[in-house]
Amino acid sequence: MTILAPLPDSVSTVSNSARPRDLINRRLSVAPMMDWTTSDARVFHRLMSRHTLLYTEMVTTGALIHGDRERFLRYDTSEHPIALQLGGSNPRELAECARMAEDWGYDEVNLNVGCPSDRVQNNMIGACLMAHPQLVAECLSEMQAATRLPVTIKHRLGIDDLDSFEHLHRFVETVKQSGCHSFTIHARKAILDGLSPKENREIPPLIYERVYRIKALFPELEVIINGGIKTLDEAQAHLKHVDGVMIGREAYQNPYPILSQADAVIFGDNHAIADRLAIAEQFIPYLERRIAEGAPLYAVVKHLLGLFHGQRGGRQFRRHLSENGHQREAGVATFREALRFVTPNSMPDED
Ligand SMILES: Cc1cc2nc3c(=O)[nH]c(=O)nc-3n(C[C@H](O)[C@H](O)[C@H](O)COP(=O)(O)O)c2cc1C
Repeated sequence: MTILAPLPDSVSTVSNSARPRDLINRRLSVAPMMDWTTSDARVFHRLMSRHTLLYTEMVTTGALIHGDRERFLRYDTSEHPIALQLGGSNPRELAECARMAEDWGYDEVNLNVGCPSDRVQNNMIGACLMAHPQLVAECLSEMQAATRLPVTIKHRLGIDDLDSFEHLHRFVETVKQSGCHSFTIHARKAILDGLSPKENREIPPLIYERVYRIKALFPELEVIINGGIKTLDEAQAHLKHVDGVMIGREAYQNPYPILSQADAVIFGDNHAIADRLAIAEQFIPYLERRIAEGAPLYAVVKHLLGLFHGQRGGRQFRRHLSENGHQREAGVATFREALRFVTPNSMPDED
């Protein structure tokens, strides 16, 4: 049973007109994904699209304030435009971390109100905050007071029995009073008791229509839709109803069809597109640098395993890296060997 928090009476309102104009284009973004959208993955994604907005994994305020800040905030300059996603519910700490995001040169800071994991619920982080819209508004308000960066939110349709459209409407109405104007909505509710985070991305049904209704009711807000979107054709269809589309798993597991076409199809920028093999080769100087810094090969190249999804030799490429990439002597040569499987005419088609 989740308790509905009262409507706010004391959330300080930040006037959008007093803030610098939000220049980030969110028509297409790659979702924040723990362990997946690391800096290495984002550098790779950026080789395929110049304009798609890239999100970090969620970083908790505790990790930034008490942990190895550099480890969580470091990124490559090629990654811009890039948004830092924060997990937390203490307005003062979130404000401190929003300031860090600005100091480190991020382009946006986003609050996670969608993650259903037990580990984060215990600390009042993520989707459980959907029961506390006033607290969320206070958090976003403090964050905006602390930084000139756009401050955005990513949330669910609801949680547990707080799953009516009315609750979602009330949540957005309350949170918008903070001055936050960009809402990314994962179009399914989260079930906090009994479902794993993975199940929570598959089992509750997607209801896109509710996200469209939020946009229709709040035309002044930027509304981004997320959940289950697999192609740019689907993205285009959603863009008839909302301002932006966020893609998670498909953009990571099969990135090339989406990201290599995104600039032309979504952002209207028709530049030459490198083929998959050329993208892999363009990644090599960065890979050399990371290995020189001491990064294990596999930790970096595992994010490229989906590059040749469905292509001739793609399976051997993945197998070669999975079998050899963990060895102590594995290095750029191992990666180049794997690429030989996908070089045209070098190997039979088994994929
Ligand atoms: C491995 C993994 C990790 C995730 N980590 C986060 C996270 O850190 N923050 C967040 O807001 N959502 C996280 N999500 C949820 C995604 O951002 C996205 O909302 C969800 O996968 C639905 O989009 P999709 O169907 O396009 O994948 C994660 C999803 C996956 C698959």
